Amino acid sequence: MTRHILAIDQGTTSSRAILFNETGKPLTHSAREFPQHYPHDGWVEHDPEDIWRDTVAAVKAVVTDETMAIGITNQRETIVLWNRETGKPLYNAIVWQDRRTADICRRLKAEGHEAMIRAKTGLLLDPYFSATKLAWLLDHVEGAREAAAGGKLAAGTIDSFLLWRLTGGRVHATDITNAGRTMLCNIHKGTWDEELLALFDIHPSLLPEIVGNSEIYGETDPGVFGRAIPIAGMAGDQQAALIGQACFLPGMVKSTYGTGCFLLLNTGTEAVTSHNRLLTTPAYKIGTDITYALEGSIFVAGAAIQWLRDKMGLIEEAGETAAIAKAAPDNHGVYLVPAFVGLGAPHWEPDARGLISGMTLDTTAEHIVRATLESIAYQTRDLVDAMRADGADGPQTLRIDGGMAQNDWFAQFLSDILESPVERPASHETTALGAAYLAGLATGLWSGLDDLSDQWEAAGRFEPAMENEQRDILLKGWRSALNRALP
Ligand code: G3P
Repeated sequence: MTRHILAIDQGTTSSRAILFNETGKPLTHSAREFPQHYPHDGWVEHDPEDIWRDTVAAVKAVVTDETMAIGITNQRETIVLWNRETGKPLYNAIVWQDRRTADICRRLKAEGHEAMIRAKTGLLLDPYFSATKLAWLLDHVEGAREAAAGGKLAAGTIDSFLLWRLTGGRVHATDITNAGRTMLCNIHKGTWDEELLALFDIHPSLLPEIVGNSEIYGETDPGVFGRAIPIAGMAGDQQAALIGQACFLPGMVKSTYGTGCFLLLNTGTEAVTSHNRLLTTPAYKIGTDITYALEGSIFVAGAAIQWLRDKMGLIEEAGETAAIAKAAPDNHGVYLVPAFVGLGAPHWEPDARGLISGMTLDTTAEHIVRATLESIAYQTRDLVDAMRADGADGPQTLRIDGGMAQNDWFAQFLSDILESPVERPASHETTALGAAYLAGLATGLWSGLDDLSDQWEAAGRFEPAMENEQRDILLKGWRSALNRALP
């Protein structure tokens, strides 16, 4: 009997559904891009109804009679507040990139709360995370606080919102990897934390139950896809990519180049505290123990390529960038710092802004395209340096995925700048595959993590080939540009 697993990958710019077979091969997929809303400088919102409509349409386009389970993976931190009775959101979702709560974070930092937050959540005080966004919604949507106190409202990250809608409002749950990004969860215990709820003034009745990553949470309401399908896996997209990359052993590292770039190092069952401004985050909970990761989060990676295309008009499609970068003999002294929404790890500067430095009358569009690609490798190097300073070896190999991983020039440059081998897997759908793996494990399609590791296959390997002197010059140029972008 043929058995399929369907993964929902609800990302920052698109909602997708991908159908996998028993060997983890993608069979069909459907994707829908949806509008981004930027109501004010630094604000980023999504309409949850767009997300819902597109997700349902994408699933309907690929679901088969043989689909035995659904896994969900999603953009993390983005928060939705909705009415439990009507199911209607009270406001747009506030997206992870949104900086509107920077002042609240500054105030909480000045009041000395960061050390406690750090110890419990593994996170730093930054508007990136959900807690201040949810507090903002409660403070700014009329009547929201009273309705929340009366138990009338539900809140959750996108996994939770989709699960609630897919089950016809029967299940309000979130998984540990998404909960771990809200800044309300004690990641050591895997529970909501009373002190944090009080600090951010969040009523506990708003929050979903925290569950593991691979278990049957409920079934789809037959009114949605015509039949009940178990929903059996959920994880934030970066943790799902770690799973899709089969990085199950401590020391294994992956880096995903989507809208942003997120590098995760598996640290096993130990929640390692970074002394270099990286995050400690739950990687997955399959069974009883939580496995943790150290994470470096870069807010702009693929988004910079999109900017070259949509705002600068320097390219027509992302695929051109490899040939353009290759054709330019060097960067001609041009450095671009893509701090378009501030800087994430290891700087955490919400007020930093993008810049291009080193331009002369000779500078061409090609140099700017090349400098944009280079900047993403330099930022990855800054994360790897922070991990090395935290005592991590290597990485022996960095497993990469996401759109930019298909760019050979970028993959080679990344290996040169990191001084580490870089590998990319045969599967282009690593994030969705991770969600499918979680659902397939819970429903017995795969027997355990070893089964999944055996399926991982490399499709490209890049070895460092750059002279040290050349690398040093480039890194010096990058650091000097970076310093100018910091406020
Ligand atoms: O933390 C934000 C992250 O989950 C978004 O991922 O794939 O949209 O860059 P992506």
